[in-house]
Amino acid sequence: MPKVIAMAGKGGTGKTTTSALLTRYLLQKKMTPLLLVDADANANLNELLGVKVGLTLGKIRKELKGELPPNMSRDQFMELKIHQALIEEHGFDLLVMGQPDGPGCYCAANQYLAMTMDKLAANYRYIIVDNEAGMEHLSRMNLRTIDYLFITSDPSARGILTAKRISDITGPLGLTVKHQCLLVNRAPQPVPALLQGKINEAVAETGMALGGIIPTSDELIHQELSGASCLKLGDETEIIRTVTAIFDSIFAPDTL
Ligand SMILES: Nc1ncnc2c1ncn2[C@@H]1O[C@H](COP(=O)(O)OP(=O)(O)O)[C@@H](O)[C@H]1O
Ligand SMILES: [Mg+2]
Repeated sequence: MPKVIAMAGKGGTGKTTTSALLTRYLLQKKMTPLLLVDADANANLNELLGVKVGLTLGKIRKELKGELPPNMSRDQFMELKIHQALIEEHGFDLLVMGQPDGPGCYCAANQYLAMTMDKLAANYRYIIVDNEAGMEHLSRMNLRTIDYLFITSDPSARGILTAKRISDITGPLGLTVKHQCLLVNRAPQPVPALLQGKINEAVAETGMALGGIIPTSDELIHQELSGASCLKLGDETEIIRTVTAIFDSIFAPDTL
């Protein structure tokens, strides 16, 4: 069974950036094959990885509601289309969810999606799901057990409070989460004592462990503005050294 890694956290706090940096890490450690799922309606993980997107799962779900080619069952059609939508790169594949469903009922289409995802998932060692703020795509894809949930936060009191709330709703959403890691992103250095206090409090009061604190990175700002791939960031850069240390400690049990 693949290990499922999911991102959560309010918009702009670094979920997609973390997904891209984690992809780089897992590729480098040869912890592959790896499936990336971009579950943000405004898909942009591909841009951070230098990959172009064609067919999305949203489009497939719409097609599944219409006329199918003759002599093809819905599950055959779904499987064929998902394989068309799968973008195959070196060491990882990427699937993009795309726009949310239009009006009407997509229950049947979602059921086929969940079934096909189950089959597809078995081919991978890790699956990374880059969510938007909510986590509803996880159940849609039938991913109910999350091995690692990364909850990203900005370095503010309200950001940390939101992270706590996200941590609290995983139970009611019916998700089983094995490890929850708080990542406080774009933190000023040194970390202000008041912020450290909020972080300590959040960790003490929830199931979250402190995954790490990531400073604002000039390298990431430059990477974003130039449109370069995160996969090309050098081992010697500050941001890669920081996240490598964080991921090493989180994934240590997997490499034993
Ligand atoms: N540590 C960091 N230093 C500098 N810029 C960052 C850092 N983390 C994220 N960013 C930038 O912040 C913006 C939002 O990050 P993103 O990963 O897209 O957030 P989310 O996916 O949670 O909406 C992006 O432009 C990204 O390049
Ligand atoms: Mg994002």
